[in-house]
Amino acid sequence: MATEEAYPVPARSPGRSSAQSHASQQAHQSQGSLVDPYVGHYAARAREMVASEIRALFSVASRPEIVSLAGGMPNLTALPLDAVGEMAGQLVTDRGTVALQYMSAQGDPGLRESICDVMALEGIRAHPDEVVVTVGSQQALDLITRIFVDPGDVVLAEGPSYVGALGTFASFQANVVHVPADDDGLIPEALTETIARLAAGSQRVKFLYTVPSFHNPGGVTLSLERRARVLEICQRAGLLVIEDNPYGLLGFDGEPLRALRADDSHGVVYLGTFSKTIAPGLRVGWAVAPPGIRDKLVLAAEAAVLCHSSLAQLMVREYLASQPWREQIKVFRELYRERRDAMLEALAAAMPAGCRWTRPAGGFYVWLQLPPGLNSKAMLPRAISSRVAYVPGTGFYSDGSGAEHLRLSYCFPEPGRIREGVRRLAEVVDTEIELCTTFGPAPMVERATGAGPVVLTGPAGVDTPQ
Ligand SMILES: Cc1ncc(COP(=O)(O)O)c(C=O)c1O
Repeated sequence: MATEEAYPVPARSPGRSSAQSHASQQAHQSQGSLVDPYVGHYAARAREMVASEIRALFSVASRPEIVSLAGGMPNLTALPLDAVGEMAGQLVTDRGTVALQYMSAQGDPGLRESICDVMALEGIRAHPDEVVVTVGSQQALDLITRIFVDPGDVVLAEGPSYVGALGTFASFQANVVHVPADDDGLIPEALTETIARLAAGSQRVKFLYTVPSFHNPGGVTLSLERRARVLEICQRAGLLVIEDNPYGLLGFDGEPLRALRADDSHGVVYLGTFSKTIAPGLRVGWAVAPPGIRDKLVLAAEAAVLCHSSLAQLMVREYLASQPWREQIKVFRELYRERRDAMLEALAAAMPAGCRWTRPAGGFYVWLQLPPGLNSKAMLPRAISSRVAYVPGTGFYSDGSGAEHLRLSYCFPEPGRIREGVRRLAEVVDTEIELCTTFGPAPMVERATGAGPVVLTGPAGVDTPQ
């Protein structure tokens, strides 16, 4: 795939001077484009918003004959839709004048109280005043970045990292520096080394973004011992931690792990969501932050949306008050555990030697490493032809690395489809190994320097591999 076509507007490197970027903007203004006459008028930050060059392939991946192990959509088949529908209808009948009215940008006080009960399951003791309701945790990520990041500021994030967060960081022209992770999550020694290196270069690091439990895309979980060390390192460096925890209650073994926020209420901003434990269409998430940050988040939310959907907030509040939500989470866990088992068994049975993969103890994802010389992005068209889809690893790094990895999700397809998908993928990898042995490694597809991450969302209705 030609890099030039994928990036018609050269992306701005966070490291470039504003004079350089101004000059290049003027050049674009004079060029224009038949497709978009405003191409030269966009703000510099809009040039960091790039669609995926594999978007077209994802529109094909949503066809029924293809087993998609790409999408990260929660499986709603187990949600009691009749009960939820009845509850929603009753809510509008009984409290429509509140549920359909504006409300405060911080969110419904009753919902914020219930959110504190949910977080108590992970050891967090928070006051409802510390909670800000958001449009999914994605908006919390946007608001946090908006209030902290100036163009060129450094944000630390695990390598690999959640594609939606990388998209947000790119849109604010952050300079993302990845910190390596292994089977126990973020590596504390690597974090210390990275912080020291950046400090020596006088680079402004604004925060560490981390997904400690059942990582997307890594599938790994930060061990308890490392949680303490990561907090200690960040406290010593005066570095704010953004703990993004959408999957924390979807663990397959025992009780939920203690959140980072449970042990540091000043240095950690916690992001939560009901997208995986109820339904993503509600778009209800939240941030818990110390008072100063909380106030800025509320102001930023007000500027962005005035307030969030009152109806969705009251629906979630009612759901938590009247429905057996703890039992429902157990149902979801069992559903995902069965699919995780199907995927791990199929991988063990079919994948050729040289492949390695993570064994998630919760969440939705397996991160697979291909044998040396193989390139997951170059291989994707051949996988789609063999009727299986995945997400190439390059989407999860801001610097274009990750081509030797790919993400598989087991959350959505039936176990039988997962097994079939893995079988097809194993055949593709086998063929790829043969090709590589005969002709040498596939050339790496270079991305334009300074380009933001590949944001993988496709057009509406298409498999969205968030
Ligand atoms: C790690 C992570 N953070 C945040 C989100 C955003 O979730 P939502 O905006 O639906 O709450 C997702 C969605 O997949 C995710 O995987």
